[in-house]
Amino acid sequence: MAYLPLISCVLLALCSLSLAANVFISIDCGSSATYKDENGIVWSGDDDYVNTGESHSVQPSHSYNHVMDTLRVFRNQSKHCYNINSVKQGRVLVRTTFFYGNYDGKNSPPAFDLLFDGYYWAYVNNSGPQPSRYEVIYTTTKESISVCVSQYEAGQLPYISALEVRSLDSNMYNGLGDDMDIYPLFTRRRLAFGANATIRFSADPYDRQWITDSTMNGTIQVSGNAKLESGLTTDYPPPAVLRSAVTAPTRNSTIQFNLALSTKFTSSVYINWYFSEVARLGPNETRYFSFYKDNQPLSKPFSPPYENCTQKYISNMTLSANNSFSLVPAENSTLPPLVNAMEVFILGDLPLNNGTQTEDVEGLASLQEAFHLLKNWSGDPCLPKFYNWDWVKCDGDRVTTLLLGGFGLSGPLPDFSSMTALHTINLSNNSLRGNIPEFLGLLPNLQILNLENNHFNGTIPTSLSTKKDLILRVSGNPELCTSNSSCPNLAASPKANSSFMKRKNILEMVFTTIVSSIIALQLS
Ligand SMILES: *[C@@H]1O[C@H](CO)[C@@H](O)[C@H](O)[C@H]1NC(C)=O
Ligand SMILES: *[C@@H]1O[C@H](CO)[C@@H](O)[C@H](O)[C@H]1NC(C)=O
Ligand SMILES: *[C@@H]1O[C@H](CO)[C@@H](O)[C@H](O)[C@H]1NC(C)=O
Ligand SMILES: *[C@@H]1O[C@H](CO)[C@@H](O)[C@H](O)[C@H]1NC(C)=O
Ligand SMILES: *[C@@H]1O[C@H](CO)[C@@H](O)[C@H](O)[C@H]1NC(C)=O
Ligand SMILES: *[C@@H]1O[C@H](CO)[C@@H](O)[C@H](O)[C@H]1NC(C)=O
Ligand SMILES: *[C@@H]1O[C@H](CO)[C@@H](O)[C@H](O)[C@H]1NC(C)=O
Ligand SMILES: *[C@@H]1O[C@H](CO)[C@@H](O)[C@H](O)[C@H]1NC(C)=O
Ligand SMILES: *[C@@H]1O[C@H](CO)[C@@H](O)[C@H](O)[C@H]1NC(C)=O
Ligand SMILES: *[C@@H]1O[C@H](CO)[C@@H](O)[C@H](O)[C@H]1NC(C)=O
Ligand SMILES: *[C@@H]1O[C@H](CO)[C@@H](O)[C@H](O)[C@H]1NC(C)=O
Ligand SMILES: *[C@@H]1O[C@H](CO)[C@@H](O)[C@H](O)[C@H]1NC(C)=O
Repeated sequence: MAYLPLISCVLLALCSLSLAANVFISIDCGSSATYKDENGIVWSGDDDYVNTGESHSVQPSHSYNHVMDTLRVFRNQSKHCYNINSVKQGRVLVRTTFFYGNYDGKNSPPAFDLLFDGYYWAYVNNSGPQPSRYEVIYTTTKESISVCVSQYEAGQLPYISALEVRSLDSNMYNGLGDDMDIYPLFTRRRLAFGANATIRFSADPYDRQWITDSTMNGTIQVSGNAKLESGLTTDYPPPAVLRSAVTAPTRNSTIQFNLALSTKFTSSVYINWYFSEVARLGPNETRYFSFYKDNQPLSKPFSPPYENCTQKYISNMTLSANNSFSLVPAENSTLPPLVNAMEVFILGDLPLNNGTQTEDVEGLASLQEAFHLLKNWSGDPCLPKFYNWDWVKCDGDRVTTLLLGGFGLSGPLPDFSSMTALHTINLSNNSLRGNIPEFLGLLPNLQILNLENNHFNGTIPTSLSTKKDLILRVSGNPELCTSNSSCPNLAASPKANSSFMKRKNILEMVFTTIVSSIIALQLS
């Protein structure tokens, strides 16, 4: 058995490297069942991903996927998060679905905010009868992903019906260059022109949902059986999407794209178009067309290849509802323009962030470990701005304030000395016990420390009693010794090791003995 420790060391070493892997996670919120749907996607309940909320069922008479039957609803605190761990760093697609389904019988769909990691995602106000879906593609620099819903107005309870996370290939959606690591892409549309039904997993191994389009007015559906490999262009359009297309109705007519941008819209976009001939052209046939923006050509005439794919994209371009894109046939083309698929993304306004600083996250984690009442909080503590946990206040990515007065905390305080940006700590009106830790006085920015009405004992550490400009409140701790003269000789600093403390106690005893014997001598 002597080899066992060696094996476990090797295993540990491997484990500590990373458990992160590509993920394909499908969470049916509010459910605890695991099942495979008609697309072959395995769904699991959400117990392993979220600490809070209640599960509910929607009213049964809907015509959507089984996944929409249940949802999770959140009360009490403002921000509630799902956490997905061990996700390989790199590009990911995250999709959320919201279907109210009158689960509460009130016919009153709530509106609330949606967040991912430390980033603001969307304002969910789905007052319609169908599910609403939000998708983001971005680059993670961490091995965990959080998706949160947050109360916007009292009484409007956030909920969620489904959450899907798919790792993408690290080359995908690289059209923005380095900006792809900085900005999230919010999916606006992903259309499979000419397809008869939505194309997703398993036809698309990344489970993007390519929706059929009904807005391409006057175009003609065409399809074929071209032999196509996957991964023909950098964004890996699935072959199923390339086997159908639409063409303009006549040789000299154009295809006009409807980007469905609202009139108020002005944002930076990333748009992909995919072109593949669906049938081999005859010897007398040619298909040449150019890509136009607002009646100006953006490309030279090109021909969609058969059994291959040409991808065109625009990136980092600010558009408004006034802009239009079209495909215009070349003079010598015998066939009208053709297009197979389009993806429209809007770039986030703000760069992605790395979340609250690690030392603050670790400090908060030790508080949550010590006080189980705080464990319901997850997701990023500070970010995005205005979406911090209810009991912290932040300055950017640093926690500056702990607001834990009257939280029902009991027991000793853990070490959260890494939270060096703290300037205000309110721990009053709890049942905290034991010594006041010395590290509190060593927090460099601490200005207000309120420990009133607890059960602290021992003495106030000198680090605190000598700290300049500190407002220290300790009243209402009956066992705490607050003035030097009245203090019994108590074990002082919790930082001191036990042998030091023992020696100190002996010295104090010796000193006391000598003093009293002097007094005795004088009296005699
Ligand atoms: C949250 O709210 C519900 C209903 O108002 C209540 O029953 C529950 O005890 C609350 N939970 C906490 C942790 O306060
Ligand atoms: C949600 O949208 C509906 C209809 O679009 C609107 O009437 C309602 O005021 C919105 N609710 C909130 C809270 O914005
Ligand atoms: C769509 O349906 C039509 C009519 O049933 C059929 O002719 C066509 O081949 C279908 N297209 C695809 C891409 O399956
Ligand atoms: C089709 O085009 C006509 C005329 O341009 C327009 O009135 C109609 O709304 C369009 N339909 C769709 C589905 O876009
Ligand atoms: C398009 O071509 C047809 C004949 O193929 C012709 O009758 C028509 O005038 C042309 N339209 C335009 C706008 O060039
Ligand atoms: C090309 O030739 C074929 C017959 O060989 C004919 O059916 C077809 O209409 C021709 N196409 C064009 C655009 O002239
Ligand atoms: C597709 O076209 C590209 C660019 O022309 C070429 O490099 C590639 O080999 C082609 N792939 C196939 C499967 O024909
Ligand atoms: C995007 O556009 C801005 C302003 O036009 C420019 O500063 C930036 O470098 C561009 N980024 C990329 C990746 O092209
Ligand atoms: C779009 O065009 C209209 C009319 O020409 C103009 O009033 C409006 O300001 C334009 N919007 C933008 C965002 O350019
Ligand atoms: C058609 O015209 C384009 C340029 O407009 C040219 O690149 C292409 O070779 C031409 N094709 C034929 C078959 O003449
Ligand atoms: C996030 O962290 C990465 C790697 O540590 C770094 O390159 C990047 O600049 C950071 N981003 C921000 C916004 O701080
Ligand atoms: C202080 O409180 C802690 C925990 O309640 C207890 O273990 C310890 O003995 C107390 N110390 C003194 C000096 O009373």
